[in-house]
Amino acid sequence: GSTRHYKFNIQMQNVTRLCQSKSIVTVNGKLPGPRIIAREGDRLLIKVVNHVKYNITIHWHGVRQLRSGWADGPAYITQCPIQPGKSFVYNFTVTGQRGTLFWHAHISWLRVTVYGPIVILPKKNVPYPFPQPFKEVPIVFGEWWKADTETIINQATQTGGAPNISDAYTINGLPGPLYNCSAKDTFKLKVKPGKTYLLRLINAVLNDEMFFSIANHSLTVVETDAVYVKPFKTHILLITPGQTTNVLLRAKSKTPNATFLIAARPYATGPAAFDNTTTSGVLEYENNHKPSVSKSNKNKKLPLLKPSLPVFNDTTFAMKFSQKFKVDRHFFFTVGLGVLPCSKNQTCPGPNNTRVAASVNNVSFVLPNTALLQAHFFNQSKGVFTTDFPTNPPFKFNYTGTPPSNIAATTGTKVLVLQDTSFIGAESHPLHLHGFNFFVVGQGFGNFDSTKDPAKFNLVDPAERNTVGVPSGGWVAIRFLADNPGVWFMHCHLEVHTSWGLKMAWVVMDGKKPHQKLPPPPKDLPRC
Ligand code: C2O
Repeated sequence: GSTRHYKFNIQMQNVTRLCQSKSIVTVNGKLPGPRIIAREGDRLLIKVVNHVKYNITIHWHGVRQLRSGWADGPAYITQCPIQPGKSFVYNFTVTGQRGTLFWHAHISWLRVTVYGPIVILPKKNVPYPFPQPFKEVPIVFGEWWKADTETIINQATQTGGAPNISDAYTINGLPGPLYNCSAKDTFKLKVKPGKTYLLRLINAVLNDEMFFSIANHSLTVVETDAVYVKPFKTHILLITPGQTTNVLLRAKSKTPNATFLIAARPYATGPAAFDNTTTSGVLEYENNHKPSVSKSNKNKKLPLLKPSLPVFNDTTFAMKFSQKFKVDRHFFFTVGLGVLPCSKNQTCPGPNNTRVAASVNNVSFVLPNTALLQAHFFNQSKGVFTTDFPTNPPFKFNYTGTPPSNIAATTGTKVLVLQDTSFIGAESHPLHLHGFNFFVVGQGFGNFDSTKDPAKFNLVDPAERNTVGVPSGGWVAIRFLADNPGVWFMHCHLEVHTSWGLKMAWVVMDGKKPHQKLPPPPKDLPRC
């Protein structure tokens, strides 16, 4: 492979949306940020220079980072943040992967505006396992807040309270015509009749799974999370935050007398989190705006056809959709919300004056003041983390209706140490694992039954992913080979749940052979 250089200047930029301007944190002044393009096997050297007043790190979401864990990016997990005025070169090779991924800031809530696509093309002369598209178009879902970054962060990290809801969802940074004062900020996709387009869908939204559809066009799913899948057709997709999906769009063979709405809106199962707004763009056919001789014709607007999306809480659709994807020791994890004691002299909104927390096995993860990977690599874990993470939920649970009675969580920086395993999780959260792809071997509603369900695991052609939506009131079983030494973050990709503590880290030890060892950190690795 070849080496590709990128420079990411973290800088403020004035941006206007929904008729209001504000200064946001960007990479190179763009929203979404620049597109990273590489071929499988290429090495990337991305220099990130911090020109803003916030600490920053960038995560290459879904990149396997084989023995390059120092470049993974989550703050206080694999590195200390890049401080204002400082820089760091992320140095990694994309190995054994091709498809769509994305990059985003991985500290605080900065990924609200700091994100962009990663396109990994197959090796030279290796074709796609599907018809060669005429064009490839990234479509990135995001969110827009009218409030400034600081207000959003404070709101998000203050003790307890409901998640804050953005003012608009966006497609490639644009809210689209269904929002007030937004018609001119509309993403337009122009197609030629009869041609095939590869849409690279990326859910960079902070807190919502998204339904997606294009009016009167079916889509063929060909890849998720940079893994090819058995192609299947659908009119509607569901993409959780952190997931990426490639679909083929075949334009109609004759220019239709209409334009078509491209729409996305959230899927939500909780009573609180529902936001009914829809972001949209427009699919237009080239040449159907031909300047016409007659004046009356010229001013005629083509009808805009709209797709129909499922109702906001259509869990059956969500489950069925995720099951379409195909390709010991067990840990049993529960992931969900709980409560923590309120700090002194404070009023907290949770039951009995508690604050809302999120946890894995009732441990609400606390970020350390130094990076876990360094502490692990230099054998300095004392005072940084402990390895007494409960490998089973410390309470009896029942997801067939009543939530578990003991929802009191504890805080801690506990990590699991392992070499080779698989695990089970439960509830409604897009769970993302750094450093690995995993196989989704089983999923279901209700309680996981350890005596019966494993027998039904799909060990033949399970979906391979880096992020999976754990169904509401249900469970997912995933399996991965712990072949990549380092410290790997695992968390809910709903930013609000991550802030509340639904996160943990795996320590994967070095193997015996030289190629199974993590090399020492780069010289310019930031210090805390
Ligand atoms: Cu996309 Cu830990 O993140």
